[in-house]
Amino acid sequence: MTDISTPTHPEPVSTILSYPTRGPWGDPGYSGNMSGYVLETLIKWRSQLGLPTNFVYDPMAGSGTTHQYCRSVGIGSICTDFHNTRGGYSAAELKVGSEIRSSNDFINNFDILNFESATHVKRLILKATEGKGADLIMFHPPYWNMISYNSDARDFSQGPYSLYLRRMQKALQWLGTLLSERGMIALLLGDLRRKGQSRTYFLTDDTTSESTIQYARLEKVVRFIKIQHMTQSKGEIDGLGLRMLHEYITVMQRPNRVASTTIPKGLVIE
Ligand SMILES: C[S@@+](CC[C@H](N)C(=O)[O-])C[C@H]1O[C@@H](n2cnc3c(N)ncnc32)[C@H](O)[C@@H]1O
Repeated sequence: MTDISTPTHPEPVSTILSYPTRGPWGDPGYSGNMSGYVLETLIKWRSQLGLPTNFVYDPMAGSGTTHQYCRSVGIGSICTDFHNTRGGYSAAELKVGSEIRSSNDFINNFDILNFESATHVKRLILKATEGKGADLIMFHPPYWNMISYNSDARDFSQGPYSLYLRRMQKALQWLGTLLSERGMIALLLGDLRRKGQSRTYFLTDDTTSESTIQYARLEKVVRFIKIQHMTQSKGEIDGLGLRMLHEYITVMQRPNRVASTTIPKGLVIE
């Protein structure tokens, strides 16, 4: 097990993240899977700020990268997803037996905007954290309809862009209520530009606009640029004759939280 209480980065974490290999967590065959190193970096960065990460929630956990990463380093987590392929138990089961079964649960058939399921998951998170809430929420939604995850209309990859933006706003608002005192939401998203088209959908800009952030009662802390190494579209030239090989991680928190954090001596943050 990795000791996450001791920062192992010799240097402060950079705002440009690049992981040429994705690591052993999750399923590389699952469309849109992320690298577990994202979590490693975010947790180390928080640790450098003096912020422990004892509990992680991933509401759209896909192939289970967060689930497996957290298990491998001994951090408590709950992961949910609309998909039903990862084992675990279903959101419907939550309604009958709402006891948390282990500190690393994966809940399938879960719609983030279903009030009843969301309420159950919130209860589980509060129970698992003795009422404190999640220290880190790894939020990696569909990049609108870049990949169709499910033909069900509740899936975020379905419907018009305006609906996607409204759903993201609601989701962020709910996620904000699950955070611990110094908790953070890390939103991983890329822009969308189709082959043969010049229009760019600035998903990160649009889902984290000032009005959305205020609506969700959050504030933006920092944005990381993440280099994409293993995307399906790697090598494809988009409608502007470019290869889009980056995405963003936008970190949000409840207002004025990091400001009161003690920065460890010797760590220069510019
Ligand atoms: C980009 S993938 C996440 C990939 C994941 N980070 C991994 O490493 O495998 C987005 C996920 O959002 C899920 N999703 C879409 N709409 C949802 C909804 N309404 N509620 C919960 N999950 C949803 C999809 O099933 C998909 O697995």
